[in-house]
Amino acid sequence: MAFNIGNFILNDWTNILIAVVVVYIVKYYFSWYTRENPIPGPFPLPLIGNLHQLGLDMGKGALKLQKEYGDMFEIFLGPTRAIFLNRAELTEKINNPTLKNNAFSIRTPPNPGLKELHLTESGIVFNRDLTAWKFNRRILNQTVMSPKFLRKSVEFTNQICDDLEKYWSSIDPNTKVDLAKWTTCLTADIIVTTATGTNSCSMVDYNNSLPNSVKVDISKNILNESLKFIDSIYTFVSCIMFYFSFPPFIRKYVPIFKTMYQKARDNDEWLDAELERIICTRKRKIESASLDQPIENNALNLLIVLNTERDINKITSIDITEPLTSMEISGILKEIFGGGMDTTRNAMCFIIYYINKYPQVKDKLIKEYEYVYGDLSKKIDVTYESLDKLVYTEAVINESTRLSPPVPVLFRAAAFDTEIGGYKIKKETTVFTNYIGIHYHKDHWVEPEKFNPDRFLKDGGHTIVKNSHLTFGGGIRICPGRHWAMGNMKILLVRMLTKFEINLADPEAPIKSSYQGTQHCDELGIYIKQKANA
Ligand code: HEM
Ligand SMILES: *[C@@H]1O[C@H](CO)[C@@H](O)[C@H](O)[C@H]1NC(C)=O
Ligand SMILES: *[C@@H]1O[C@H](CO)[C@@H](O)[C@H](O)[C@H]1NC(C)=O
Ligand SMILES: *[C@@H]1O[C@H](CO)[C@@H](O)[C@H](O)[C@H]1NC(C)=O
Ligand SMILES: *[C@@H]1O[C@H](CO)[C@@H](O)[C@H](O)[C@H]1NC(C)=O
Repeated sequence: MAFNIGNFILNDWTNILIAVVVVYIVKYYFSWYTRENPIPGPFPLPLIGNLHQLGLDMGKGALKLQKEYGDMFEIFLGPTRAIFLNRAELTEKINNPTLKNNAFSIRTPPNPGLKELHLTESGIVFNRDLTAWKFNRRILNQTVMSPKFLRKSVEFTNQICDDLEKYWSSIDPNTKVDLAKWTTCLTADIIVTTATGTNSCSMVDYNNSLPNSVKVDISKNILNESLKFIDSIYTFVSCIMFYFSFPPFIRKYVPIFKTMYQKARDNDEWLDAELERIICTRKRKIESASLDQPIENNALNLLIVLNTERDINKITSIDITEPLTSMEISGILKEIFGGGMDTTRNAMCFIIYYINKYPQVKDKLIKEYEYVYGDLSKKIDVTYESLDKLVYTEAVINESTRLSPPVPVLFRAAAFDTEIGGYKIKKETTVFTNYIGIHYHKDHWVEPEKFNPDRFLKDGGHTIVKNSHLTFGGGIRICPGRHWAMGNMKILLVRMLTKFEINLADPEAPIKSSYQGTQHCDELGIYIKQKANA
């Protein structure tokens, strides 16, 4: 008897469960079929939406769906509806450069994870509060786009390239090395040093970790501190994705996620305290120096002196009249780390890969360096002024990032109800610009799959369609670091290619990469040989 009752209850629960699931599915598809303004797109599944069709690599997935559905499609990222724009002309509103009445002035719809990190009402990338965004964006603008900063950054990057040369000249030409690893520490050193004015020790540490290395003499204390700082920055950046993607319930209560959540919070706390310490120490140092003593134009110093008596071009024309607080400075430094490190690193890997696939391009680059810098067997001086002359180098960078954009797709959100391509877009809808899809669109590019830097040259016989090359995005939220990044990539190319013979370890292999918010180069085996005459 007892057994029968048990069985009955069990059956009952099973039935209820089945009923709930059926009702959920019916409701899900009912609202899908009856949705307003349907746009072509793949058929979704309950809970996951179209995640299975998109796959783990957002860029590859977006290209695949574009082939199937054309210039504009919609998909569901779990429960969230997202629209993809795959054609230059459709991105007009996203790339509108005026702030007034800008339909895509914000990046994301409300998101509890970002809110918990205070990233939706402060900072830049994810800031939804336009007044606060404008404040921070202007300050970052004034800092990393200013000629005095850019000029100083050329010095920093050259110094770090001097270090790189020392490390690379001791590498055995028959030993395969991983460029992906080298570029990680190389760009960490460049971005952290230029942002803070304090040398970071990523490359030293990496070189020390190589087999047979003669440990270079550096205080363990300094090394540990520096590495912990960089590690913490990387953790901070990867945790943003974690907060962004998982609802609070999962983060706070599901075991594995809970551990990650705790790690993220501990890291945030440590990083904030460390930045606070760095900023305050520097503030005191600057205040104690006499007024006529020039300060170094690293980003941190420029942020500290902003609107103080040391600031010769105070931002008086706008609403910022006070010096920045440590919190504000810390927020901006985090934007620089978050926006600058992975992007530049991956761009460098992709560029070196393409150059080595096309030896005639490499030869043409060397010709440009001989033309701009003269005898390459002498020590060459890569000045700030010389960078503008590197037109072919820029074309190579543009073409490499066209084919492998470090940010393959990125979203904005509708600030108010609007319209694109005849479809109504409701306020807070996520709209992706499919950068990689636009970069491969046959209506914008002749033989889009082909690597041909000449298409960017004035006498190359090609016209670049407006908004068809979007490596740095466009409109009011265009990448503020683009001039800095372009300068860094040019310097790195000149310095690497004039001094070293670089060859792919496996010339036939496709590049190994995965999507991690940016398109990440997982491994790039190369051989490095110092040039005979260098
Ligand atoms: C090759 C290197 C880089 C690439 C490919 C890149 C790419 C991009 C892209 C595609 C966007 C989105 C723009 C849009 O929404 O239209 C962006 C935004 C941004 N980037 Fe970069 N970036 C690079 C380097 C840097 C550097 C060095 C910094 C350091 C200052 C930086 C800081 C930012 C910030 C703060 C934003 C957000 C802007 C906003 O929402 O207002 N990026 N970047
Ligand atoms: C940032 O600087 C660029 C170029 O100097 C300018 O066109 C843009 O309007 C600035 N953006 C903000 C928000 O100040
Ligand atoms: C880098 O490591 C190599 C061994 O792997 C060593 O011979 C060389 O001296 C190191 N270079 C520097 C500059 O520390
Ligand atoms: C540096 O870090 C390593 C490992 O994280 C640790 O073993 C070592 O004691 C630290 N050294 C100093 C001087 O802090
Ligand atoms: C490279 O691309 C940028 C952004 O699309 C563009 O402004 C620049 O003129 C291009 N440079 C060359 C040499 O094609």
